[in-house]
Parts: sequence; structure tokens; C-alpha cells
Amino acid sequence: MKIGIDSIAFSTSKYVLKLSTLAAKRGVDYAKYCVGIGQTEMSVFPPNEDIVTIAVDAAEKAIAKVEDKNAIDMVIFASESSFDLSKAAGIYVHHFLGLSDNCRIFDLKQACYSVTAALQMAKSYVACNPNSKVLIIGSDVVKYSKNTSGEPTQGGAAVAMVVSKNPRIAEFEPYSGVYSTEIMDFWRPIYATEAIFDGKLSAHNYLKSMDICFERYLSSSKLSAQDIDYSCFHSPFCKMARKAGRQLFPNKNIDNSLAYNELIGNSCSASLYICFISLLDNTPEDMSGKRVGMFSYGSGSVAEYFSLIICNGYADMLTANANREMLSNRAEISFEEYELFRNNQTLKNKVYENVGKVTLTGIINDKREYVVR
Ligand code: HMG
Repeated sequence: MKIGIDSIAFSTSKYVLKLSTLAAKRGVDYAKYCVGIGQTEMSVFPPNEDIVTIAVDAAEKAIAKVEDKNAIDMVIFASESSFDLSKAAGIYVHHFLGLSDNCRIFDLKQACYSVTAALQMAKSYVACNPNSKVLIIGSDVVKYSKNTSGEPTQGGAAVAMVVSKNPRIAEFEPYSGVYSTEIMDFWRPIYATEAIFDGKLSAHNYLKSMDICFERYLSSSKLSAQDIDYSCFHSPFCKMARKAGRQLFPNKNIDNSLAYNELIGNSCSASLYICFISLLDNTPEDMSGKRVGMFSYGSGSVAEYFSLIICNGYADMLTANANREMLSNRAEISFEEYELFRNNQTLKNKVYENVGKVTLTGIINDKREYVVR
């Protein structure tokens, strides 16, 4: 039985900060951001938008082409920017989507790796329950302290995928290379809203983990590097993915996979899968039957290299123009607004829109209150 990704979509904030604005305010040469780390813009989030509101928008788009929505009997929400240690954020998303109550819903956490864990679980679940569909969401809003080297690598987005039998976008291959090790390269204690990181250590461990995973992937699959047609790498910032690409495949160009992340910034759990959407949307030739190598890295750390085979007819499932428009239609905000957003504030007398139908209106008596437009 073929199992894989049947539909996929992403969503991000309606607001963007140009990194040229940040560079000027921080007294940094803009070339360091646009060339040195490979980022030109980052999505920034007003207080009425959170990991749930963007997730609902991504998931609505992902399930729009699924005929039998009642077959979705598992929702997995993967995030490292969760606001609740008990209740699963996926329960809000499930509610706003109006999915069947005959459904298991839970959250997963392991830094940027968690969506890959969700895909592996979904693959096994569908293998045992062939008529089931699993909705997977990865949603993160990434914040580092201001004036740190991490500041230009913030961002955020949500990705949503439906995993089922007879997929229309990509089929899972049975091979994987995995590597896990305990390391303090990036973490966020439960009392903190901003991540703490050791940038150099994290970049070193990302590349080391990738080498180990790739070797294990090749050894389990009996494939060689030449058998990989296209590549996607977790992209905390585009230069990291480009370094990874050069290390594994000296001459391969991975620009098509990075077109969206360069404008969004780090979206952690969603990042690798937005690379995948970007690759599908921006590759002009027919990718049917081709193998895409995927490298997933989550600090702390767990890493995995696996591969997908692109399905015939996948192009009918893409929404490239809408994706490009979503990014180009974001409104540029000023540095003052960026600083206000960081403190959960906004300019007085200015209304901030949500990307989708759900707005976070406030937190009353420790309860998050959402309204549907
Ligand atoms: P930094 O110390 O500001 O940067 O931190 P740098 O001084 O190393 O410079 C970066 C690059 O810019 C260098 O190029 C410089 O030469 C170049 P490289 O040597 O790397 O090729 N540069 C310039 N280029 C052109 N013109 C100039 C110029 N000046 C310098 N004028 C760092 C950069 C990415 C480390 C920092 O932003 C950071 O720590 N970010 C957060 C951590 C991170 O993203 N780590 C990535 C790996 S870990 C991961 O992927 C997991 C993660 O997503 C979290 C999770 O799993 O949940 C983060």
C-alpha cells in the first residue's frame, strides 16, 4: 500500500519586517543578513495572531481538497512555541475546522524535528488503519532576545499536511537515517518566551548530525548520493541549508526549496516542509517519479534523513500562485511596530488583520479567547 502526503499547505503572518530595517537599527551591515545568513525578510506576528490562528488557516487549505474529511481521525499538532503544558493546541484547530469528534488529538514537541516525528507516526498509523487520514500541523512563532545574533533568524509559519493511503503529492520511502544526542545548542525553559541558543554549537551539530543520518540512510537504502534528485534541508536560515546542501552534494542547486523561507525566516517545525512546498511550487520541470531527500534537524537534538517519491499528477494539488501572493501581500511594518509586537502591543488606532478566519482576542482568566470572523 502506498502511504504519503496527500495534501499540503502553509500559512504565515500578514506582517513582515525587512531585514534591511533591522540591520540599520542594529548598526549591522545588511550584507551580513542577506548574504552572510541568506535572509531578506521575516514574518512578524501581532498579538491577535498565534500558533493556533495560523495553524487553522494552513489546515483549512490543506483539507480543502480532501473529500472525506470524516476519515481524519487523528490530528497531531507539532510545535515548540506552545503556550500550554497540558491542553493540546491541536484541540483548538480541530474545533475551528469542524472535524469529526471521532478523532484522537495530541501535541508533539522536539524542537524543529517534531513534524518529522508526526509523519513517521502517521505512516505507521495509516499502515494499520488504511481508511484513516491523519492531519499533521507544524506551527511555530520563533523569538530570540533582541540585539542578539539570533534576532535576524526569527520568523514563523504553520504547515499542514494530510497523510493517507494513495497519496496525491508524495509517497514515503521505507528508508531513514536517524541520529540523536543530548546537547545544549538551543532550548526554551518553560518560564521563557524567547529561545536560548549557542549558535555556533547548533550549526556544528546540525552538520554533524546530517552527515551521520545521511550515511545511515544510504546504508539502509543501498542507494547512493546520485539517486537523490532533489533536496530539502531544515532551514533555520537559508545559508545553513545551503551549507548543508554543499556538504552532501557539492554541485546541486537548492534555491527552489528556499524561495519562501528566505522571506519567512525560521518557522522551526514547519521550516523543512515549507522548503518542500517551495521546491514543488518553484521547480519548472515535471518532478513526477523523482526522489526528494529530506533532512530534518531539531536542536537538543534529534535528526533524520528520509526520502519521498513525487506522485504522478502532483501539480494539480499545488497552489503556487496563492502561496506567492500570500507572501508578497504581507504588509511591511516599521521598526517601532516590530518592537511593540515583541511586547504583545500594537500601534494605537491601527487594526491588525489575521491571515485566516480566527482571531485571538485576548487571554481572560487564563483562558485564550478566539473569535471566528
Ligand atoms: P553570528 O555570530 O552573528 O554570525 O551568528 P557570524 O559572525 O558567524 O556570521 C554569519 C555569516 O555571515 C558568516 O558566514 C560571516 O562570514 C558572514 P559563514 O562563515 O557562516 O559562511 N558575514 C558577512 N557576509 C557578508 N557581508 C558581511 C558579513 N559579515 C558576516 N558584512 C548565527 C549567526 C546563525 C549563528 C545566529 O544567527 C544564530 O545563532 N541563530 C540562532 C541559532 C540557529 O539558527 N542555529 C542553526 C542551527 S540549529 C537549528 O537549525 C535548530 C533551530 O531551528 C531550532 C530548533 O531545532 O528548534 C535553530
